[in-house]
Amino acid sequence: MSKSIKRIAVFTSGGDAPGMNAAVRAVVRTAGYYDLHVYGIYEGYEGMIQGKIKRLDNSDVANIIHAGGTRLKTARSEEFRKPEGREMAYDTLMAHEIDACVAIGGNGTYTGAKIFTETYDIPFVGIPGTIDNDIYGTDYTIGFDTAINTAVEAIDKIRDTADSHNRLFFIEVMGRHAGYIALHTGIGTGAGFIFLPETDTDLEYFVKQLQRSTRRKKLFNMVVVAEGNKNGNAMDIAAYLEKNHNILSKVTIIGHLQRGGSPSAFDRVLASRLGYNAVKALLEGHTNVALGIENGKNKLTPFEEAISTQKELNQDLIKMSEILSL
Ligand code: F6P
Repeated sequence: MSKSIKRIAVFTSGGDAPGMNAAVRAVVRTAGYYDLHVYGIYEGYEGMIQGKIKRLDNSDVANIIHAGGTRLKTARSEEFRKPEGREMAYDTLMAHEIDACVAIGGNGTYTGAKIFTETYDIPFVGIPGTIDNDIYGTDYTIGFDTAINTAVEAIDKIRDTADSHNRLFFIEVMGRHAGYIALHTGIGTGAGFIFLPETDTDLEYFVKQLQRSTRRKKLFNMVVVAEGNKNGNAMDIAAYLEKNHNILSKVTIIGHLQRGGSPSAFDRVLASRLGYNAVKALLEGHTNVALGIENGKNKLTPFEEAISTQKELNQDLIKMSEILSL
């Protein structure tokens, strides 16, 4: 194990995700076990620039494993995109004699780490924390499981009112450019149709499917719409149907509800494993790698590869969702 790492910093960046606190807890406690000093940086890269950094010990991360959001706060930093911003961030790390960093976030967070380490010689490792599950090199990202459970719970409630009124509902879920949340939520709620960014759905084809389900006396229908799909958002699709086919519907946008709440047991365990692995990876001399777990096994992927490789949706799951909704 490397002897040169004595102080590490941990931070969360980009959109918060349930389980980030559990990951920070695991980093702090594992680092403590190996006699490292840990510093928490508040508000991600923005806080790194502004010097928002504080020593953390085991008691600072007590009673947070169950908490949603991120106690270290987060931000999407514009300043860190600039060389001057990154220089200020480096000064903060040097002022606190930080030897290595653990960055918890999504692709934007990894991109920031990669660019930073091209100029500054500080080892970084990344932990995948985003509800979108769109990071290459891991089967699941921290927060995804909780987010789909939240969305499923919400849609189960919509089902009651959709059924009572025989209505068509469009329910929009997050995921940015990826359809993981929509696909898993759609399967889990028995959605009649799922609009995904990864599939090119023709709206007239969708209308035919809808009419087919009406003919077989399906009285209500719930359609899950991924925010990044090519036909526009749920409002746009509902408006198209009303204008061109006189089909009325209701729209629900689940929005940031999906990002909050206590992490599921799955996310807590995943976050704990990744936080523990992050510290061990640094001590073993790894740098500029993203951690992940694939098929139950720990995995390290260079930031460059994690950022530039698209994680593909499982095509068989898409086909299955279509068959099961017939
Ligand atoms: O990346 C997580 C995510 O929640 C996406 O699903 C969504 O598109 C985006 O962040 C929303 O970001 P913000 O909260 O900054 O509007």
